[in-house]
Order: sequence, then structure tokens, then C-alpha cells
Amino acid sequence: MNLWSGRFRSQLDPHALKFSSSLDVDKQLYREDIEGSLAHVAMLAKQKIISLQEAATIQNALKEIEGEIAKGTLVLDRKSSKGKRFVAEDVHMAIEQRLMEKIGPVGGKLHTARSRNDQVALDERLYLRRTTKQILKLIRQLQKTFVAKASQYDSVLMPGYTHLQRAQPILLAHHLLAYVSMLNRDRERFSDLLTRVNRSPLGAGALAGTPHPIDRNAVARSLRFDGLVENSIDAVSDRDVLIEFIAHCSIVMMHLSRFAEELVLWSSQEWHFAEIGDAFTTGSSIMPQKKNPDMAELVRGKTGRVYGDLMALLTVMKGIPLAYNRDMQEDKEPLFDAAKTVADSLAICSSMLKTVKFDAQRFENELASDFLLATELADYLVRKGMPFRKAHSIVGDLVHVCTRKKIALTELPLTEYRKHSKLFEKGVYSMLDPRASLSRKRSAGSTSPKEVQKAIRSWRRRLFR
Ligand code: ARG
Repeated sequence: MNLWSGRFRSQLDPHALKFSSSLDVDKQLYREDIEGSLAHVAMLAKQKIISLQEAATIQNALKEIEGEIAKGTLVLDRKSSKGKRFVAEDVHMAIEQRLMEKIGPVGGKLHTARSRNDQVALDERLYLRRTTKQILKLIRQLQKTFVAKASQYDSVLMPGYTHLQRAQPILLAHHLLAYVSMLNRDRERFSDLLTRVNRSPLGAGALAGTPHPIDRNAVARSLRFDGLVENSIDAVSDRDVLIEFIAHCSIVMMHLSRFAEELVLWSSQEWHFAEIGDAFTTGSSIMPQKKNPDMAELVRGKTGRVYGDLMALLTVMKGIPLAYNRDMQEDKEPLFDAAKTVADSLAICSSMLKTVKFDAQRFENELASDFLLATELADYLVRKGMPFRKAHSIVGDLVHVCTRKKIALTELPLTEYRKHSKLFEKGVYSMLDPRASLSRKRSAGSTSPKEVQKAIRSWRRRLFR
């Protein structure tokens, strides 16, 4: 018999139960569910809606049930518990049924002045609060790993890219710190979300509130919420915080996928800029020479499922009339999937990055044999009074000449330079040293060693406190 079966004369069709049950998914919320129930019962007693004795009986049993589930002696599944037929359509019903089984009719007082609609909304907010804090920690941990790598390689130069074409020399540390900035915005987004998550929907009832003299604010305080989701209809029908959470997860994954992609490229034979530690790569079952960057590829690939989770929930919520509709039960799979995927990906990226070795020599060689300092030459002419557009075109000609002759700009004789502009003098060759070019950068936030050192210090202060 179902807990709501009073008005019914036949049991729910077994297929309908199987189709509609969310227990396999939402059993993950058992801790939050029990935490919420304990607070609710305490308030009911304080408001004299149930007696202290009844509250204590219910609370003790709930704590026991939490222990049973944690230990695995009570398995929440759709079919049975210890051989007994359990017809639970979700985690809330399963726990309540177990409660009745343990303490009899007094267990039926737990659900006074509460609906599963405000109960599930509460559980989800408790889950989001806990999970968001975990994710904040994981992001911070990855940021620290990036900063540590940046310090370790703080004087290594590399070619910087735009359009995946070599552009200008940069410090590897500067490149790595770009990820620290990206991840910091992710952290800001999740922290900001916490202010909206941390409001209690409990006491909204099914949608209209309750005639019992409950104290919504007291329960909210005891669950360490900052306040209420005021409007009872909104409280049970809103899933914005879940959508925001998955949207933020999507942006994190987008960031991680860019890092993963760079690792994949950089560890290929073609680039050979970096090597991922053996513990985070795999071999091929057929080609003995292979060392594949599978973890990076999987992070890149898992980005797709998190975007899918976001689309799924946005679409579930689209156009459903107020207030609660059963459609909303479909919110949990995308929520849990996004949370798990982003947490796992952050953790693996951090452990993997720790093992990455960059090839400083290879970077230097690549810089020596390329045209990355062409912009420096243009700026040299500009400092001597030439308009930038004209300088740009002259240096373009010079690059063309070198490409034809298959030589580097450093190998072009001064006479050739002067054929293009009389402003070129011997000093031009000192423009062609990558390291010197970095030091000439003066703008805030640039790749100059001074600015990069400043950035490393500032991140250390902010992250390693
Ligand atoms: N399992 C349901 C969900 O997650 C709980 C709320 C059910 N409410 C109801 N009136 N059937 O959405």
C-alpha cells in the first residue's frame, strides 16, 4: 500500500510505479532528507504541534534509519527492503515508510504541515549548498596547482598563439595563469550562487502554505539558511538555482576542455611541448609505442554531457505551469550528473597537471626559428617615428623576403633591412631576442617577467592563505 493510497481502490500498476519511481536516482538525497526532517520535527515540537515525546521518538528512528542506509543494512531500492515489499516511489516515501515500519502510527506525524513538494525543494537546496562548497574547494585546489606550475617554470618562454598560428613569445607561466583567472571567475559564480541557494523553501506546503502554527524562520535558522524563499508558490515550483548550478558547471567544463585540448595537442609528437605523467596516460592494446592522453580527452568529452544536462533541465522547466508538476522530478539526474562530472574532472585535472613536464628547450628552439618577433620590428620603427600601419607593411615585406630565402629575420643582413627603410640601424638585431622582447612589455597584466612575478605573488596571497 502506498502512503497516499486512501482515496484509491486499486494499487498503482507495477509498470506505472516502475516508470514513475525516482528512488534509484534520488536515494542520493537520503542524508539531506533526514537532516530536513529532523529540523522540521524539532520545530513541530517547539510549536506544540506534536509532543516532545513524539518528536524524540521520530528523531531517534530517523537517526537510526540514516545509520542503516549509511551502513548498507537498509538498501533503498524500488522493490524490497529485507525481503519486505516496499512500494516507494521516491526517497522521501522510502524513508517515511521505513519510519512507520519502525515506530508505527506516530511516524505518521512527521509529515504534518509539510508536502513532498517543499520537502524535495529543501533537500535539493541542502544538496546544492554542500556540493557547491565542495566544488569551490576543488576549483581552488586546481588554481593552486596551476600557480605552483607557473612558479616552477617561471622563466620558461614559449610561442604564444592566436588562430593556432604562432603569434608572439610569452612566458609559459603567463599562459598557465590565464587558467587561474578563468577558474577564479568560476569560483565567483559559485560563491554568488550560494547566496540564492541558501534560502529555505520549507513550510510552503504543497503550494499554499499551512494552517498549522509553524515557524518557517526557526527551521530555516536551524538548517543554517540565511532566510526564506518567501512566496510559497515560487518556493515549490522554482528550479532556478539548479539551472544556475549546471550552467556554472558547464562554464567550468568549457574551461577544462580548453586546458584538456591544449594538453592533448602539446603532448603529441607534432608539438612535443609537454609530457603527461605515465600515471595519467594509457597505452594502446595494439600499438606498443603509444602513450595516449586519455584523461585529458575524457575531460574534453565529458564537457558534452554537462552541456546536455543543462539543456535537459532548461527544457524540462520550459512552459510548465505553476506550481509543482511531476515533470520536475526529472531535475535530479542532470543535477547529480553535472555535479559528479565537474567534481571528478576538476580533481583529475589537478592531479594530472601535477605530473606534467614542460620541455623548455623545445620551446626555445621553436622560438629561435620563427617570426614571432615581427611585431617587435614594427614597434621599433614606430618608436623611430613611423606610423604603425606603414611599419606593419614594411615588416610584412621583410617576412616575405625571409620566407622566400628560407632564413630567419636574425639572418637578414642590415643592407637588406635598409633597402626597406632607412630607419633600420644596427640596433635592430637586439629587437630579435625573445627574452628581451618580453622585458620590453610595459602594460599591466602583460607577459613581462615583472608582471608575471607580480601575478604569481598576488595569486599566492589569495589562494594559499
Ligand atoms: N519525487 C518527487 C520529485 O522529486 C517528489 C515530489 C513529489 N510530489 C508530488 N506531489 N508527487 O519531484
